[in-house]
Amino acid sequence: MIEILTPDQVDRARATGALVGDILHALKARASVGTNLLDIDRWAKQMIEDAGAESCYVDYAPSFGDGPFGHYICTAVNDAVLHGMPHDYTLADGDLLTLDLAVSLHGIAADAAISFIVGAKRDPEDERLIETTERALAAGIAAARPGARIGDISRAIGTVLKAEGYSINMDFGGHGIGSTMHQDPHVANNGRPGRGYVLRPGLLLALEPWIMADTAELVTDADGWTLRSATGARTAHTEHTVAITEDGAEILTLPTR
Ligand code: MF3
Ligand code: CO
Repeated sequence: MIEILTPDQVDRARATGALVGDILHALKARASVGTNLLDIDRWAKQMIEDAGAESCYVDYAPSFGDGPFGHYICTAVNDAVLHGMPHDYTLADGDLLTLDLAVSLHGIAADAAISFIVGAKRDPEDERLIETTERALAAGIAAARPGARIGDISRAIGTVLKAEGYSINMDFGGHGIGSTMHQDPHVANNGRPGRGYVLRPGLLLALEPWIMADTAELVTDADGWTLRSATGARTAHTEHTVAITEDGAEILTLPTR
């Protein structure tokens, strides 16, 4: 089912989105060399609770994971890319960290992810991975407007990823979002323009380009959740929730401070 939100629900989505953006921003500022992933999970839990919001992850038990996730944020380091389960790992200089967070506030969810380098040791190839997913996301957002189709967004994202020479995994991508985190339509990170569902005002989409440096193949950790590159190559993932409005797409998950 594809959910079209009322103007009042879109207003609530703005509040949820701002909260997600602010929490991610605060966690990025706090995550440094010596930080444990379990600290980040605790901080995320605290910030979600302080805001009176609910985690979309803690009880989440979809087909692609092993039982309820049990944590408040996804933390994916280096070759880990999606659904990174927080565990006892201390961040080192030069680690490439992805934080992915979804919460619900007053019944509306928002979902966003950022990738960044921890510490001072910055590998140019890691910077290129991150910058490519950010640019692909911007292109996807620019293609999202009333009357356009899902395939137009997929094409825009895929064009940027492929131009940098990355191959694209089609198993996981963006998605509709609203009263729940994962909804139709699926938004693949590559596809054909002019195909798929026609966008209309009130549709919320989580767009999320992600790539692995030299492969499109994933392997699952023993934890039953964390997805890594099959080759051990490093990865990046950037995500925003956007609302389709009369004028285009409004990014809801930007930080406000
Ligand atoms: N937020 C992720 C996405 O971008 C989904 C994470 S599900 C979890 O769609 F259970 F692993 F947290
Ligand atoms: Co998502």
